[in-house]
Amino acid sequence: MSPLPSKLAYVPFVSVEHMMGLVHHIGVEKVLTDLAAEIEADFRRWPLFDKTPRVASHSDVGVIELMPTSDGQTYGFKYVNGHPKNTAEGLQTVTAFGLLADVESGYPKLLSEMTLLTALRTAATSAMAAKYLAPRSARTMAMIGNGAQSEFQCLAFKAVCGVDTVRLFDIDPSATARCAANLAQSGLKVVECRSGEEAIEGAQIITTCTADKQYATILTDNMVGSGVHINAIGGDCPGKTELHADILLRSSIFVEYPPQTRIEGEIQQLDPDHAVTELWQVITGEAEGRNDDRQITLFDSVGFAIEDFSALRYVAKSIRGTPYFTRLDMIADPDDPRDLFGMFQRAKPEIAIA
Ligand SMILES: NC(=O)c1ccc[n+]([C@@H]2O[C@H](COP(=O)([O-])OP(=O)(O)OC[C@H]3O[C@@H](n4cnc5c(N)ncnc54)[C@H](O)[C@@H]3O)[C@@H](O)[C@H]2O)c1
Repeated sequence: MSPLPSKLAYVPFVSVEHMMGLVHHIGVEKVLTDLAAEIEADFRRWPLFDKTPRVASHSDVGVIELMPTSDGQTYGFKYVNGHPKNTAEGLQTVTAFGLLADVESGYPKLLSEMTLLTALRTAATSAMAAKYLAPRSARTMAMIGNGAQSEFQCLAFKAVCGVDTVRLFDIDPSATARCAANLAQSGLKVVECRSGEEAIEGAQIITTCTADKQYATILTDNMVGSGVHINAIGGDCPGKTELHADILLRSSIFVEYPPQTRIEGEIQQLDPDHAVTELWQVITGEAEGRNDDRQITLFDSVGFAIEDFSALRYVAKSIRGTPYFTRLDMIADPDDPRDLFGMFQRAKPEIAIA
């Protein structure tokens, strides 16, 4: 009997290099638009997903999290970390990988890098939410925090919402300069600003995407005028927020999954029963989104497992017939399912090093 693994043992694997190739092949703005549509489609069928707040393991310097969900046919999870101190050590704040599996057999059907994919899906989710919540005429966005996620956010708002101008600010001017240089050929008008106050001038959308493991105040109450949409990305852990609580009290607040957002989002600063609206209900028409020109809308984003599930499914679909994956010998799959040891034993002479 052959010691070679059967067909089912091979799991399509999308490496970082493959993901970069795939996204370039499709085009980054098209990927962001496609992902926004995939995520929106899954938000429309929200009730049928298994949902749980992510499983977080906190340390003094960061967090490592698992994010599972299932639609009954396909199961998915993401491993992701958040370590704000990492960039000072030449490492990324956020890294991730994820997996899809067949619910019927339990066999994995995709393993993928998700560091890039997380940046893409987070940006696509933000822009999809803004389509329902931001003023329709919004063309200028303030982008506060110019790290790894920032260019993806700017491009998603351009592709999905028609934003044409981004006003950048970061406490580290070199981050702003890098972000501006990366967006130079994007078709966006890019304005580098020296303060948060300057960045929000004339902006109808304010995105905060900073990393700091503490209660930060990236926006104070007096900075936020009526009618703006706030896309708050960086407050996504217990004890890690970006907005002054007074802003929350003046805003209509939209969230992904309340049991997770109440632990991790900006609303951890509020009473546990403070009214919030679930974004999926706005999408299905069961709840109102923006209903007034003067209303401040806040998408209190923390990132939810269903967004990763949608993104992985999109990748699984998009790699078919392309060279942007390899097949990993990942699952031990003996011809006789109960003869795992026999498979191991038969392999000995063939893999023995001479
Ligand atoms: N909501 C989600 O779904 C989601 C997804 C991914 C990442 N995140 C979060 O988004 C944040 C940004 O992630 P990243 O990968 O871009 O991190 P990053 O470390 O690459 O970039 C963060 C940037 O914020 C800047 N910054 C820190 N404090 C600031 C302040 N007070 N004012 C202005 N700028 C400030 C830093 O100088 C840095 O350039 C993180 O907190 C991360 O956890 C959220």
